Amino acid sequence: MARLKIGVVGAGLIGRRHVATIETSPEAELVGVADTLPADDPYVASLRVPYFASHRELLAAAKPDAVVIATPNRLHVPMGVDCARAGVHMIVEKPIADTVALACDLLREAKRAGVRVLVGHHRRYHAQAQEARRIIADGKLGRLVGVSLLWAARKPDPYFDTAWRRTAGGGPILINLIHEIDMLRFLGGEIASVSGVVSHAMRGFEVEDTAAAVLGFANGALGTILCSDAAASPWTIEQGLGESPNFPYSGESAYRFVGTAGSLEFPVLRVWSHRDAARANWNEPISAGPLKIVDRDPFVEQVRHLRAVIEGSEAPIVSGEEGARTLAATLAVQDSARTGVPVGLARDYAAIDAATR
Ligand SMILES: NC(=O)c1ccc[n+]([C@@H]2O[C@H](COP(=O)([O-])OP(=O)(O)OC[C@H]3O[C@@H](n4cnc5c(N)ncnc54)[C@H](O)[C@@H]3O)[C@@H](O)[C@H]2O)c1
Repeated sequence: MARLKIGVVGAGLIGRRHVATIETSPEAELVGVADTLPADDPYVASLRVPYFASHRELLAAAKPDAVVIATPNRLHVPMGVDCARAGVHMIVEKPIADTVALACDLLREAKRAGVRVLVGHHRRYHAQAQEARRIIADGKLGRLVGVSLLWAARKPDPYFDTAWRRTAGGGPILINLIHEIDMLRFLGGEIASVSGVVSHAMRGFEVEDTAAAVLGFANGALGTILCSDAAASPWTIEQGLGESPNFPYSGESAYRFVGTAGSLEFPVLRVWSHRDAARANWNEPISAGPLKIVDRDPFVEQVRHLRAVIEGSEAPIVSGEEGARTLAATLAVQDSARTGVPVGLARDYAAIDAATR
């Protein structure tokens, strides 16, 4: 197959990362960028590919095989529907939509058009994430009992000068925790129920600065989450992976998975176990060895994978359906915090299944 022709819609923070990735990809060719920025904007002027004032112009003129949609959240579904109707595959940045119902609209259009939808939960492509999934799925921890996730970082004060980051939807649940809930689903299995509590106490904005949640997994495991963007700590997956120079490497793990036969720190990948499995109890010493995993750029891997999915040689790692299920579980943290009751996810999952069947 010739190189995959990809267009990028939305040339902001993450869109520029996609542009840079596709430009250097051996599997893909960047055929255009669309944004509402003026043509004399320095970034736009620096582009080496045609620039369009709208995604529709890009679809019509550049004729991409696939598009990356990296615009504000509310535009993901209308733009995705236009791509589907044009027969164009897509990577939609997270969250796939603002609501599960809107996500289902996009999934139905994609199904009808026979196009592939991947969602930009790019951390699933890290080598550490793939290895952790293997460790748990292969039963190295025995039966999964539960997981504890701590995602705590202190965002700089000027970050909140932008108004939407102080209001509903602009907080750590939909911006950060959604990635972690996606990772918990990828590694631990499907989440069946969610109880949430939120706090605004540190910054006093309308939006939460801190959230806690209790998860029930379909396999019987339990999970706890503490997530805050007001706490200085080394415990985020970004710092644990050293994913970007913006989040300096801490080498610490944000996740602890515990099983009947051992435990796993992630993303550092330390597997704790007893030497003699027959004497695996708290009276015996337990030890851990770190695994050495050479990571790769998850955005590069995402583009390679997109092409393989379109060719039919790989099953999608983060399909539109997966993105919609992750969205449902994330919104449930907010819903439960608002109503004070646990939220079961069976109805949302049934709607998502119906949209993809
Ligand atoms: N995967 C990740 O880790 C990750 C990281 C950051 C952001 N995101 C997601 O990516 C999306 C974009 O976030 P961002 O931080 O890059 O935002 P941003 O504000 O930096 O960029 C958005 C871009 O979209 C453009 N835009 C707005 N309306 C448009 C329209 N009608 N047509 C074309 N372009 C339009 C804006 O001009 C801007 O350049 C969000 O959905 C966000 O949740 C994902």
